[in-house]
Amino acid sequence: MSKKGRVFSGIRPTGRAHLGNYLGAIKNYVALQDDYECIYCIVDVHALTTVEDTLNLRQNTFEMALDLLASGIRPDETILFVQSHVPQVMELHTYLSMVTPLGKLTDLPTFKEKARQQPHNVNYGLVGYPVLMTADIVLYKSELVPVGIDQAPHIEFAREIVRSFNYRYNTNVLIEPQMKTTDVPKVLGIDGKEKMSKSLDNHIELALTPEETRQRVMMMVTDPQRIKRSDPGNPDVCNVFSMHKIFTPPEDVERINTECRRAGIGCVDCKKLFAENLNRALEPFRARRAELASQPDQVYAILEDGARRARMIAEQTMQEVRAAIQLP
Ligand code: TRP
Repeated sequence: MSKKGRVFSGIRPTGRAHLGNYLGAIKNYVALQDDYECIYCIVDVHALTTVEDTLNLRQNTFEMALDLLASGIRPDETILFVQSHVPQVMELHTYLSMVTPLGKLTDLPTFKEKARQQPHNVNYGLVGYPVLMTADIVLYKSELVPVGIDQAPHIEFAREIVRSFNYRYNTNVLIEPQMKTTDVPKVLGIDGKEKMSKSLDNHIELALTPEETRQRVMMMVTDPQRIKRSDPGNPDVCNVFSMHKIFTPPEDVERINTECRRAGIGCVDCKKLFAENLNRALEPFRARRAELASQPDQVYAILEDGARRARMIAEQTMQEVRAAIQLP
């Protein structure tokens, strides 16, 4: 089967994936495998720009690998690997840094935000984050990069770095990647306000037990205007309703929509129904995940095999890169 092109994406090893990670990225990674040659990387080196205590880094990387595999990443076709297992990326990062204007890096909103969040640790790696990201992508001559809209400036920046490199060394070894955004709904946390994220503790992990899932779902904030059970609700501003649209059969979504507006269904029952549907949807995922978790050696072997295949592509690119620079 011939595929349309090469896809690359990186995901940070934040530990167990949550619904936001799944709906925003992983689900799309899985779907892209049908049409593209895919390379997915757990970016442990990027994590070092913000994570000072590396005690959990190994475990968090393993958990992310479990979630990716249990979600349907097929490691026989797709290359799934850990960033630090392919050290060529660090070498390419250094070469790319020579054609990257420092001022542009420190002007990026993503850098400024991180610097605000961790003023005690504004490290050199944090400044170079987008350069390492560019190295990730171009090391594999990737054409398409599926990412959320928040990463758009980084992909645009990657394209500029590629152009500068190719121009400076009068070559075309590096390929300008394209960003591939998918219109995923912005997944809000259980607070119904902020984007779902582990650091805000407003997330729902995929690997929770059904009972833990139910407890998290029951904490979800609904339409804030609806105080009493007898008040009519507005599904248009309710985060639980937007989740129903993803996990609940269409007939039921329509019924909830009407009944909520005339106070025919209360928020408690609406959330119970969502928890049931979510748990049902996650059942196969959880079964696969438990099976993989019981065979950690097999998971590590998959990552090793991914790294081996990734290194072959990486070393080929690096030979071309070194020649283009005319390194002695
Ligand atoms: N910066 C991305 C994020 O925060 C992760 C990432 C690292 C990435 N390298 C990448 C994404 C390369 C796409 C391509 O989510």
